Amino acid sequence: MATGGYLPERIMTNAELASMVDTTDEWIQTRTGIKKRHIAAENETTADMAEQAARNAIAAADIDVNSIDFIILATSTPDLIYPSTACLLQNRLGIHNGCAAFDIQAVCSGFVYALSIADKYIKSGSAKRALIIGADTNSKILDWTDRSTCVVFGDGAGAVILQANDEPGIYSTHLHADGAYADLLQVPSGVSNRKGEPFIKMRGNEVFKIAVKTLSDIVKETLDANGLTKNDIDWLVPHQANIRIIAATAKKLELSMDKVVLTVAEHGNTSAGSIPLALDSAVRAGDIKRGQTLLLEAFGGGFTWGSALIKY
Ligand code: COA
Repeated sequence: MATGGYLPERIMTNAELASMVDTTDEWIQTRTGIKKRHIAAENETTADMAEQAARNAIAAADIDVNSIDFIILATSTPDLIYPSTACLLQNRLGIHNGCAAFDIQAVCSGFVYALSIADKYIKSGSAKRALIIGADTNSKILDWTDRSTCVVFGDGAGAVILQANDEPGIYSTHLHADGAYADLLQVPSGVSNRKGEPFIKMRGNEVFKIAVKTLSDIVKETLDANGLTKNDIDWLVPHQANIRIIAATAKKLELSMDKVVLTVAEHGNTSAGSIPLALDSAVRAGDIKRGQTLLLEAFGGGFTWGSALIKY
């Protein structure tokens, strides 16, 4: 497995947000752990960010792009209604071998969903080398006058190359969803329904409580499925939404925060970009080492949630 990440150049600090809405640096840091977020330039799109992250992963893997035979891109903020952002990316990368390329949408769980699909294709022998990307330009679907959402989200993209000979690779993935919670976190406008505003609406406090419970459950489910205990985990790589959700999950698992990859302070919640960005940052910092056992876990709109247990 090789990783890559990309964050837009423009940084928006909590202080800058405090000049836009009724909030403070202290409130944001205490309630979320976020210090800053990166915001895409006006003409910078999800495909632009995905391309940079993908190129960084491809360089780390040191492979010929045309050896990639499966592309899956998780996003809730595609460039176009169609073609998919994955197809736009395939062309930009100069991949002309006719491999499958498609987007999936599972909001903040999108990367884990994509990883799971790619893993099944590889394990079945249908693909040998997959490019998996999570990328979101949340800034384009934020109401910049709503202090309960605009302080939480940011833009970014992360990517991995997963190949058939990654040994031992992904042990298991676990995906879940419950559409009964759609109202708690949504962008209430789309293509066939344009009645609502095209901005993130969130009942944060309710999302928070369900996220903590669900994430603890899925970590346990994943460990049990593999006959492991928390002591077998070298790194928890959680969705970077809120330091308090991450800390509460770690506490329930009696997992030291030293074993948790934390990047939320640096870029806030980047939705599908969040986990691959965290993974990439810990790999490049030399914290995550070859052979270590990683537990990835995500939670997002839908609700969707999922996990992956990986030998890096
Ligand atoms: N600055 C200052 N005050 C704010 C604020 C802000 N940016 N946003 C909300 N508040 C206020 C509220 O208006 C409320 O005021 P009141 O008590 O006078 O009514 C107070 O802070 C508490 O609001 P609440 O929503 O209960 O805060 P919270 O502790 O739950 O923190 C979140 C809000 C959004 C940070 C938190 O709920 C959260 O992170 N939820 C999960 C979000 C998430 O992870 N979403 C993505 C899932 S993928």
